[in-house]
Amino acid sequence: MPELTPDFQTIICMIDNRLDMLLDKHCGSGLLKDAMAYSLKAGGKRLRPLLCLLSAEIFGDMTKALDFACAIEMIHTYSLIHDDLPCMDNDVLRRGKPTNHVVFGEAQAVLAGDGLLNTAFEVMIAAAAENKELDALGAMRIIAGASGVRGMIDGQSADIEFEGKDVDIETLHYIHSRKTAALIKASVTSGAALMRASGAEIDALSLFGDNMGLVFQIVDDILDEEGNTATLGKTSGKDKASGKITFVRLYGIEESRRIAAQKTKEAADALSRFNGRADGLKLLAESMLTRKK
Ligand code: IPE
Ligand code: IPE
Ligand code: MG
Ligand code: MG
Ligand code: MG
Repeated sequence: MPELTPDFQTIICMIDNRLDMLLDKHCGSGLLKDAMAYSLKAGGKRLRPLLCLLSAEIFGDMTKALDFACAIEMIHTYSLIHDDLPCMDNDVLRRGKPTNHVVFGEAQAVLAGDGLLNTAFEVMIAAAAENKELDALGAMRIIAGASGVRGMIDGQSADIEFEGKDVDIETLHYIHSRKTAALIKASVTSGAALMRASGAEIDALSLFGDNMGLVFQIVDDILDEEGNTATLGKTSGKDKASGKITFVRLYGIEESRRIAAQKTKEAADALSRFNGRADGLKLLAESMLTRKK
């Protein structure tokens, strides 16, 4: 990510500290916890929890959403561990370190992913029980749906199903909107739902999240083509070699960049009703266009 404002860095520190505490509280000790902690603490931009907190902040005190934001990061990290497995993208570098299965073996990596997914729901249920004023059920419904079989898991399934095949643009959008945009959108809308935002406010944030989520994966595809492995912290050039369905493959780099810029503008426009209270979200979305990792 490009230089973030000091405010974003402060929020990321708060997320990292809370993730540490939640792992200790919910995950005991031993090899499985070590494997979960290895990937969770390996770094990462913390984009999704940041989105959840910035969205919650539009409607009140962002710290009320902190455990939900951390749960989303756990779900995202689980998806990365599984995405890297030999049976999926077969990657050896993630967040600048050897992938989970390289260090812990495939069986433990599968279980570390499972563990993070399940812990995410334990964390949200515990937070729901402690904060009755939040719409925790609404937020969990959004997060479970987006990460589930009509969201991220379906997108990952289609990503693998269509590897090496000739597909149309509808299929490309189907894959990207589910494997990546769904959880990014849910990060934003769950933060708002928790704070009992109105239906119209959540609709506006949905539109923002849809656009930003798609831009995020378009830029990921561009970085895979043009980025540098050391900066990315993951191996570049893999998509072409694996025959992945990407924006770069179907549209080319220049058109992909143009679409990303256009959709970022649409994302920013969707926030107009918040009269500056969503400037954090806008800034974060715009920074995605120039990110190098
Ligand atoms: C990588 O996500 C996987 C995609 C959905 C493209 P990120 O680029 O947010 O990965 P981290 O969390 O920063 O490692
Ligand atoms: C991964 O997409 C999306 C999820 C993990 C759900 P990619 O396979 O493009 O992500 P990277 O490039 O490995 O981070
Ligand atoms: Mg993948
Ligand atoms: Mg991958
Ligand atoms: Mg990628």
